Amino acid sequence: MRRVTFEYPEESILCWTPRMPEVSAAANAVSLMMPFLEPFVARSIRSTIVDLPPELADQARWLIDQEVSHQRQHRRFNKLLCSEVPGLVRTEKMMRWFFRRFESAASRKLAVSLSAGAETVAFSMARWTERHSNELFMDADPVITTLFMWHLAEEVEHKTVAFDVHRATGGSRFQYLVGALLALIVLGWFTVIGSLTILRAQRRLRNPVSWWRLTRWAFSLAFEVLPNVFAAAMKSHHPSEIADPISLVAWLRLYDEETQSIPLWWRPSSLSA
Ligand SMILES: [Fe+2]
Ligand SMILES: [Fe+2]
Repeated sequence: MRRVTFEYPEESILCWTPRMPEVSAAANAVSLMMPFLEPFVARSIRSTIVDLPPELADQARWLIDQEVSHQRQHRRFNKLLCSEVPGLVRTEKMMRWFFRRFESAASRKLAVSLSAGAETVAFSMARWTERHSNELFMDADPVITTLFMWHLAEEVEHKTVAFDVHRATGGSRFQYLVGALLALIVLGWFTVIGSLTILRAQRRLRNPVSWWRLTRWAFSLAFEVLPNVFAAAMKSHHPSEIADPISLVAWLRLYDEETQSIPLWWRPSSLSA
């Protein structure tokens, strides 16, 4: 377990990617969801631990620890965000309402399949973000960039666990597919709602460049996520067969246990370009 904390900048975090403001809008919307999604994933996986073989139970505990740590860092970030954009409090309320209702209504099997699906989406996002990181993070705030990359790197690290838990508790490939598609709809919907609120605060809601960029990234991301979802639903496929993004994994190894810190993620600067 890595215990990292981030000291966020004192100035506005509404647009921490000045060259690509839409990245801030979408990433902040994803961050807003984390304190609702990740505790849901943690609780659904925790409910299976008694039924898991010892080695997988240990991995499940490790995943839970990591998710709890992720959402804790995002919660601090989101507090700053909501103080800048009060409209986001309403978005948070919608997220809280949805995850509470879903959790109380869904069977354990459905909750675990949604968690496994959400984990595949997170892992795919890590691969996509690493590949596009130079375009996305040019001149971006280094600490906030590091928050997101640290989170994504740990998603890569535990990419197989929720899938294995789903399979070990009797989940079928079809149920996984249903959970993954449901996860995509829920995550996509809340990301769109949050992004629109932030774009309005950035005064970019009617900007055609913003719409063009977001549409382009959404299609590009879909080409990464959907093949991974459908592959994992196929017989004999396992998420471990999908290659890890190398630079993320290598960077994570630079974590210093003594100082409980990780080097800032390298991002290009227009000044040195
Ligand atoms: Fe996470
Ligand atoms: Fe995760």
